[in-house]
Amino acid sequence: MRQITFADLDLPQQTEALNLVYRGYDQPFQVSQEWVAEHLQAHSIEAGRSPLWLDGRNQVAALSLLALRNGYGWIGGFGVAPVYRGNRFSGPVLRETLKDLDEAPVQLEVLVTNLKARATYERGGFRVTRQLVVLEGPPGPAGQTLEPAGSPCWQRQPASLERLQDLVWVEQSLAYRGHQLHFVGEGASWGELASQPRLRLSNEPAGSPLHRQLLALGWREVARQYEMHRPARSPAENPQFRRGQAAPPLDMV
Ligand SMILES: CC(C)(COP(=O)(O)OP(=O)(O)OC[C@H]1O[C@@H](n2cnc3c(N)ncnc32)[C@H](O)[C@@H]1OP(=O)(O)O)[C@@H](O)C(=O)NCCC(=O)NCCS
Repeated sequence: MRQITFADLDLPQQTEALNLVYRGYDQPFQVSQEWVAEHLQAHSIEAGRSPLWLDGRNQVAALSLLALRNGYGWIGGFGVAPVYRGNRFSGPVLRETLKDLDEAPVQLEVLVTNLKARATYERGGFRVTRQLVVLEGPPGPAGQTLEPAGSPCWQRQPASLERLQDLVWVEQSLAYRGHQLHFVGEGASWGELASQPRLRLSNEPAGSPLHRQLLALGWREVARQYEMHRPARSPAENPQFRRGQAAPPLDMV
């Protein structure tokens, strides 16, 4: 095995690599080059710090995508190629990803059905902090006010939203793209979205006021994830982090 980084591949190779390591994933996951380019850019993924392994035939064996923002880390992609699974390779992949990151709390999401990935992350020091749901359903009436969303996951934090192309903002209280809601703030109403047949919201904190309102409108849960955090290991050199901190204060990010 030879270790390189995700930055050593060009965009078509990066796309192929991600589709390979996510083969057999519990949710459909087949990404395009456009998706990969935006994923890296919008969510602050540092391709040059994201490890990738090639086998003797130069085929991708495993990879992990590491994002860094404001002193916090996030794993935004993680997988072992099907032919190499079941050999406990995921542990070393995670360890290499987290190398030199003792001062930063790190977070990630994992599908509740993905027991192997969760076992790997728990062994690496991650603990579940909350559940996130992916929901689909019809909009409410145009004049109805939406309940506020919960504290956003990494991909829905302002730093990500401001880098998404073609996001439509309605009076700074609602942002969407196509049929996907990305931001629901104070005072948002369905407005122009009321005519859409179906909408989607990803990774909303379970039990938030918005989650409860959408369920009452007949929305259906299509996936559920655990959000997991690993506290900073040696925060002494970085006063921003306290020892034993279970989760970063997301509102600060
Ligand atoms: C998830 C994935 C990375 C795990 O890699 P793997 O090579 O299949 O698994 P490993 O052999 O490294 O084993 C991982 C852990 O799962 C445990 N495990 C294996 N089978 C298990 C099962 N059926 N239930 C629970 N845990 C299981 C192993 O014991 C090991 O934990 P341990 O090190 O604490 O003993 C890999 O299956 C994959 O790439 N899947 C598709 C993409 C994906 O799901 N990525 C994660 C996104 S969050």
